[in-house]
Amino acid sequence: MSKQTQIRRITVPQIAARKGGDPIVSLTSYHAHTAAIVDKVADFILVGDSLGMVMHGMNSTVGVPLDLMIMHGRAVVRGTERALIVVDMPFGSYEESPNMAFRNAAKIMKETQCGAVKLEGGARMAETIRFLTERGVPVMAHIGLTPQSSHVMGGFKTQGREEETWDAHIADAKAVAEAGAFAVVVEGVVEPLAVKITRAIDIPTIGIGASAACDGQILVLEDMLGLSPWTPKFVKVYGRLGDMIEDAVRAYADEVKSRAFPGEDHVYR
Ligand code: KIV
Repeated sequence: MSKQTQIRRITVPQIAARKGGDPIVSLTSYHAHTAAIVDKVADFILVGDSLGMVMHGMNSTVGVPLDLMIMHGRAVVRGTERALIVVDMPFGSYEESPNMAFRNAAKIMKETQCGAVKLEGGARMAETIRFLTERGVPVMAHIGLTPQSSHVMGGFKTQGREEETWDAHIADAKAVAEAGAFAVVVEGVVEPLAVKITRAIDIPTIGIGASAACDGQILVLEDMLGLSPWTPKFVKVYGRLGDMIEDAVRAYADEVKSRAFPGEDHVYR
């Protein structure tokens, strides 16, 4: 009989149980070695489809293919051992029908070994979320500003500036919670709406550009490290990695050009 590997990662029920408790810490990651660092502090790591923009220079997430998500998902699972890994379902891989969503979610889970998937959309995705969760796929929902719909929304715009739109956002939150989502990302909404959404549902809200009122927070790692060419206004930048990389690359170029490059130590160990 084979020995069962002990489950050490943070689980979906553990994240769900954090509603109203200790704030949930989360970051995106797309890469094994940075994920290993993030793994030391994050409760869950999202392999977000923002990787299309951050890693591959696309101008939106719409062009991200399923295979790319799986490739980066595998790398992040390989690099980590503690955090729950959530992989985004990219645009076009789940909207058409619950069956299609299940087929692609199962492919993501089998091929990456991640613990959950995330998909965008509120009430309109409730039937699909129920279909997936009833069949063993844990789903994190994503409401408010949903970047995959940026063409319909007319860009990346803060949601809920007009109070008359709040009921629809709250209905979205209730619909995904009732359908079985274990948590919901609330992106780019005004603070009073984030407060109302968080109070209206019994699953954790994970804010991004939605104030500190949520049950947890997520940021794109490269944004908070100062590595993205463009960073949304709400992001606090905790590092200056872009500047550090430029300094290091310039120092290297100077040494190469002046033949001061350290030759003797230049062997593989
Ligand atoms: O794709 C992504 O990185 C995301 C986060 C911004 C929540 O969905």
